[in-house]
Amino acid sequence: MSASRMVLPLRRPNSMKVLDLCCGAGGLSMGYHLAGFDVTGVDNRPQPNYPFTFHQADALEYLDRITGTGEVADYDLIHASWPCQNKARVTAWRGSRDDHPDLITPGKKLMQASGRPWVIENVPEAAWDGTLRADYLLCGSQFGLNIRRHRAFETSWGGGGDLLPPCWHHKGLLAFEHKGERAYADAMGCTWMNKTEARQAVPPAYTHWIATQYLTHETRAA
Ligand SMILES: C[S@@+](CC[C@H](N)C(=O)[O-])C[C@H]1O[C@@H](n2cnc3c(N)ncnc32)[C@H](O)[C@@H]1O
Repeated sequence: MSASRMVLPLRRPNSMKVLDLCCGAGGLSMGYHLAGFDVTGVDNRPQPNYPFTFHQADALEYLDRITGTGEVADYDLIHASWPCQNKARVTAWRGSRDDHPDLITPGKKLMQASGRPWVIENVPEAAWDGTLRADYLLCGSQFGLNIRRHRAFETSWGGGGDLLPPCWHHKGLLAFEHKGERAYADAMGCTWMNKTEARQAVPPAYTHWIATQYLTHETRAA
């Protein structure tokens, strides 16, 4: 689907705030924004195209600090996309996995210590060795996107909720050929990013859906 024909969901602000750690240029931040959240991102690299409030910082140190000061209570939800290179198959093939420390394990401990509901996103490989529990395993084809990009999500509420259609990219019903990286970025829904940023990005549709699962869980818990 071309960017110009993409139908974006109607945004209804919900007065809730999400902190997106390791936000990159904001693919997943955008999903939370579209679900109505006020979004703040943290990344250790400059992110000139990030569309929301941004702090450049080490995410582990940032979360530890705001938990200590109590500022973390300003956020309804903490999201983290800890870097995936320690888990990704592609890094293993290159033989450079050991150059990338596992931040999921210390990151999850800090998220648990924050006392706030949380979501961790990573490549499915992170669930293979138990580092992450795949409460949700999402694929672009479940959202009608012409992309194949699987991602696992562990949440503090443990999954459940609405059903999604099964992943159907393997049925050959989607044409995965994209004319270059620009077309792939647009197919993900990351139209504001440059090609380099989009390489690391995850489609906003995934956290738009995760956010609705969080809101459903909160409503039921109340
Ligand atoms: C997979 S990308 C995030 C992509 C993002 N979720 C999206 O959908 O656009 C991981 C990000 O983590 C950042 N990062 C790596 N180590 C970090 C750290 N210690 N603190 C903060 N950010 C970090 C990288 O700069 C990169 O932007």
